[in-house]
Order: sequence, then C-alpha cells, then structure tokens
Amino acid sequence: MCGIVGYIGTQVATEILLAGLERLEYRGYDSAGIATVSEGKIHCVRAKGKLYNLREKLEREVNHAQIGIGHTRWATHGKPEEYNAHPHLDCGMRVAVVQNGIIENYRELRDELKSKGCEFRSETDTEVIPNLIAQFLPEKPIPELQDSNAFLEAVQKTVNRLEGAFALAIAAAEYPDELIVVRQQAPLAIGFGQGEFFCASDITALVPHTRAVLSLENGELARLTPLGVEVYDFTGTRLKKMPRTLSWSPTLVEKHGFRHFMLKEIYEQPAVVRNCLEAYVNQAWHAQENCELSPINLGLSPKLSENLAQIQILACGTSWHASLVGKYLLEQLAGIPTQVEYASEFRYAPTPITPNTLTIGVTQSGETADTLAALEMEKQRRSQLQPEFQARLLGMTNRPESTLASIVDEIIDTKAGIEIGVAATKTFVTQLIGFYCLALDLADRRGTLSASRIEEILIGLRHLPQHIENVLEQQERVIEDLAHDFAETQDFIFIGRGINFPIALEGALKLKEISYIHAEGYPAGEMKHGPIALLDAKVPVVAIAMPGGVYEKVVSNAQEAKARDARLIGVTPVNDLEAAETFNDLLPVPEVEELLSPILAVVPLQLLAYHIAARRGLDVDQPRNLAKSVTVE
Ligand code: F6R
Repeated sequence: MCGIVGYIGTQVATEILLAGLERLEYRGYDSAGIATVSEGKIHCVRAKGKLYNLREKLEREVNHAQIGIGHTRWATHGKPEEYNAHPHLDCGMRVAVVQNGIIENYRELRDELKSKGCEFRSETDTEVIPNLIAQFLPEKPIPELQDSNAFLEAVQKTVNRLEGAFALAIAAAEYPDELIVVRQQAPLAIGFGQGEFFCASDITALVPHTRAVLSLENGELARLTPLGVEVYDFTGTRLKKMPRTLSWSPTLVEKHGFRHFMLKEIYEQPAVVRNCLEAYVNQAWHAQENCELSPINLGLSPKLSENLAQIQILACGTSWHASLVGKYLLEQLAGIPTQVEYASEFRYAPTPITPNTLTIGVTQSGETADTLAALEMEKQRRSQLQPEFQARLLGMTNRPESTLASIVDEIIDTKAGIEIGVAATKTFVTQLIGFYCLALDLADRRGTLSASRIEEILIGLRHLPQHIENVLEQQERVIEDLAHDFAETQDFIFIGRGINFPIALEGALKLKEISYIHAEGYPAGEMKHGPIALLDAKVPVVAIAMPGGVYEKVVSNAQEAKARDARLIGVTPVNDLEAAETFNDLLPVPEVEELLSPILAVVPLQLLAYHIAARRGLDVDQPRNLAKSVTVE
C-alpha cells in the first residue's frame, strides 16, 4: 500500500522517479508527488489522482535536480486530496518525507510538535515525521562546519520515537548529497548503480536500472550518497550488508501487446503452472520404481511434518480462496484436519492452541499486514510452550524476498513471476499448484495415498497447462461476446460445491473488484436457504458444474435458479449434453478429474470478469479503492 521511490546520482531525478512510480502505481493511486533538492531548497510537486496528473504538472517545469523522492498513495489517514499527498515537508520546509505504512502514535507526536509551534497542513500521520526530524537537525548549519552525521542522527532519533509499521525515504534541503531510507515492517529495497543509487518499495521499480539490490530488514536505515550506501540499525550501529544480484528481467513488467496486465497475466497461466510443476514434481519418480525418491520436492524439512496432527492456514482475499481449495486437498489427500482463517479475524479471535500444528501463511505479495501480524502472533503465543506446541510456520508466497520470509521457518515459492494487475490471477493458480504439491508430499510421507494414485494425480496435473491453453484459445472470443450482455448487469451470483465452492467465491471476487458489479459466491446447496430470494430475470447465475461427486447436485441447484427466471451460465465440460440443455450460456472447459477441476474452472471466470470490466471501460489493472499490496491492517 503506497509506493515510495528515491534517487541520488548524476541523472535528472524527476524522470527516474516518475518511471519508478509508474511501476509502483499498482500499490495505490489516490495521489502522487515528488520532492527534489537543489540549490539548498526542496521543490515539491503533488497531484490528486493518478500519476498522469502529476506527470502533466511536471511537464510544465524544468527541474535538473539529481536527488529526489517520490510517492504514490493509497489513502489511510486523510482524504485522497492534494493537501494529503506525499511528500510531506516540515513547517520550515527543510525536510521532505515519503512514507508507506502507518504511524500509530502520530496524534501524541502531533500534539507535542504543535505545542512547540509546528503548524500542520495535512490530515496525515506522516507529517509528524519531517517535523520531528527538523527538530533534531542543527538550527542552520554552516556549510564548512556542517556535521556530516547530523541528518543521519536526526532521522535515527526520529525513528526511535515512531510506533507502527513504516518505510520512509527522506531528503533534506541542507543535505543535498544524502538520501536516508528506513524500513520498519514495510518493504524497502535499495538498488546499486554506477555512481547512482535508487530505493523503492518494490524491486519492480529497480530492475530497469540495476540488478544489484539490497532489501533492508526491519529496524534498519540507510544513507545513500553518490559515493555509496551505508546501513545502520536504529541504535546507530553500522551494519555490513551486501547487495544480491537479481535474476529478473525488466521485460517481466511490460504488457507485451496485451491491453491490460491482467489479460497478459491470465495468458501466462499455462507457463507458470508448468514452471511450478517442473520445480516441485520430481520428474524421475515413478509409482512402480524409485522407492527411495519422493514424488514431490518442495525442499521442506521433515520436522515440519513430523507427528503432524493439524494444519491452520492464515490468509486474506484471493489467497484465502486458494487456501480453501488447499484445505480440501490437505484433508482429502493427506488426511490432516485443516482450518482456514481470515488473518484479519484470527488476530483478534485466535483458535485455541493445539499441539503438533503446522501454520501456513499464504500471501502472494508476502507483505499483507494482517497475514504477517497473525503469523507473528502465532509465533509469539507459542514461543514459551512445550516443544509439541511450538510454532511450525510455513509461508506460501510469490515473493520469497518479502517480509513473510523473515517470519516463517520455510517457504513455498509459487514462482508465478511478478503480477502487476491488482486482481490476482496467475498467482492464484500457482498457489493452487503449491497446495496440490504440498498435499501430495504430505500424503506420500504419511502413506495416505498409494503410489499409483499419486502418479495418477501428477499425470492429471501435468496435463493442466495444455487444457488452460485450450480454454484461452477457444473460449476468449466467446466470453468476450458474452460479456457484452452483462455490461449493465447489477448483480451476479456464483455457485459451486465441494472443491469448486472456493472457485465460486473467487469468480465473484474477480467480478466485484474490477467491474464494480455486486457479486456473491455461494455453496450451490445453500441457495435455497435464503439467497434464492434474490433471483429474478435480472440476476444471472454462474454455476460451476464439473463432473464428479457433486455434479448432479450442482445441476439441480442450477435448475432451481432457472425456475426463478435467472439466466444460467454454466462452467462445465465442452461436450456435456445435459449441461447444454440446462444452461442458457456455456463457458466450456475440458473435462478433467473433479479434484483437478478448480484450476480450469477459474480461467473462464477470470476472463468473464476481465471482459465485463473492459466493456464497461474501467481501469482493469488499477480498480478504484484497491491496492496490490495491503500493508495496512
Ligand atoms: C484479489 C486480491 C486480493 C488479495 C489480498 C491478499 O484479486 O488480489 O484479495 O488476494 O489482498 O493479498 P496477498 O495474497 O498479497 O496477501
């Protein structure tokens, strides 16, 4: 939530900052701003709304400054107005700050600063920070006598007064050769160039400039100068840190001819599913031979699954939906009782502590504040207990370099590549693959499935990328046409049962978040217990009817909806005659074993949501009020 960037070097800062913000705009787009330093002054330009408003303002001026900071905002404290946009300056205009996070004790700090004469111009929590720093700076430094550590020390004193989770980039009028950045429970990475240095909330903004990257850890701050980077902890002790080299290619963050990132990411799904399977399925394993080998290699240590009695999964949003499919797989394949909790609820009403429990945090970004805090809490509350009650924490994420990695013991990397569209698509299907692999791994270790059954499932999984390709090739046009009919629709219902109930939830979430159409996902059998009262000719019902244990039931539930005049859309196999008679419209998918069907069923639902939103002329990749990385509680 919120994206911050910074630059110090020999190039004109404005263009670099804007390009960085463009890559971070997925994190929030309520307002944007940059501040640069030249001739002993801070120059700050801000604009409400999307980045192009700021770009337009900046086009009207000439600015050769070679140091600056920038921000794209997802509003927390204060309305999305220009006066609340970052950067924020102290009342003496000496210090400029951009922040991603929340300062919990800002009220008390603001009162204190006000009593000392500071005037505040915004409603934000951030504005206390430049004012505090300015208080700690020497009054008016004389250049020759200037204490070289004064700015650094002022920031250090300030961060020790802040409570909350925050990442900061700070510039000061009187210190034109220094940029200071801080990380405390909100992401921040530094990019190393030749005589120039960058910082950003996310490495996607750094890869066009450099692959040498250092991700700061919590409680660290760094001074960037044209000569190098010095890292310190909050007590002022210098730390020895080296950048690592990323294997990322800058082209990962291009649209490659697609109209939107979301569509491109939907089309990347066959490849990322293939990648993930290649990484985690042991190609040399066969049911009849190789008894020494494991079918799955997630690289997890045996102690994670020793005497395992229970699993609890903590997640939010789409990751929570993937976890519901995960629960089904872990229970049905590995026989382990599994609970799935919304991380935001778990934090305040945790389940009773049980022994030999594996806790899995699922978060594609690895930065979702609720999920991280729930995991921290779990770690904390178990830390003083007997060994069998100790926390065993596993993370599942698409960003193994994220904060999640510093909390959990082990990680499953879902390897989907960077996802820019705010609506999760390819990262969802790779989370599902992560759960198939985990469930099969545990099933193998616990002996709950025969080798031949494991092999059968693996063969089915290996066919999925080809099936997804078929859906994309054959159905996209059909779905695009169908979407035209629903451009004005106000309500949608999605129904599914068993392993496809979470897919009904996910289909509804995709539609609401990008098309702003009200949509609900229900277990098909629950419709008659209330929601069926909503149905009439104006409310289409999308039923996920995949052959298997609950197929007939779903079709009957769909018939019940049709009898109430609802237009029925079936996500169902291509050649199903019964389905062809039942449904008004079909979103056909290849027929696969029911256990594997969620990965196919979700694809037409993603396309349906995409095309309805695109038809309505909406900003598919950056839907209103949302942000890709939700780093506030
Ligand atoms: C929906 C979506 C959100 C996220 C949720 C959790 O398309 O993207 O619902 O799934 O904010 O995010 P992560 O997985 O990063 O923890």
